[in-house]
Amino acid sequence: MNSHSADRKITIQLEINKERYERDILASDILLDVLRDKIGLTGAKPGCLNGDCGACTVIMNKQPMKSCLMLAIEAIDSEILTIEGLKNTPIQRAFVEHFAFQCGYCTSGFIMICQALLLNDRNPSPEKIETWLSSNICRCTGYKEIEKAIYSVIELLNIKNQTNQ
Ligand code: FES
Ligand code: FES
Repeated sequence: MNSHSADRKITIQLEINKERYERDILASDILLDVLRDKIGLTGAKPGCLNGDCGACTVIMNKQPMKSCLMLAIEAIDSEILTIEGLKNTPIQRAFVEHFAFQCGYCTSGFIMICQALLLNDRNPSPEKIETWLSSNICRCTGYKEIEKAIYSVIELLNIKNQTNQ
């Protein structure tokens, strides 16, 4: 894409948290900015803006994506889930119950990465949990509380699984 086409205004539709949004954007707009500035979903946070911290994580077609590294136009035709779509879910409640945050800036990104892991694997190994969590950075807490939160949801999922058998 040359700079001329990147500056072009286009109208796109995005499906976010099961709702459709139509917005005029620049072809060069990153998904994070469109979510926050054009749609008003401010749960995904700008941190490093280069893919290291994970504060901007969203889930797209069940995969975690760093929304600072994507153009919004790349998200057309995808199912996007943001932290606003996880209100009152087990993983969101688990972070509260286990005090898995301090300043909270990284929290939405961590909840999203945990949810993405559980969507891909209901019973991940400790090594896998460690690997997935290593894609996000928290500058305040140890990671122990975050691990406790995800383990509590894994336990919940497995209890549900057993009762459904
Ligand atoms: S803001 Fe996207 S990874 Fe840090
Ligand atoms: S709780 Fe402050 S950066 Fe993680």
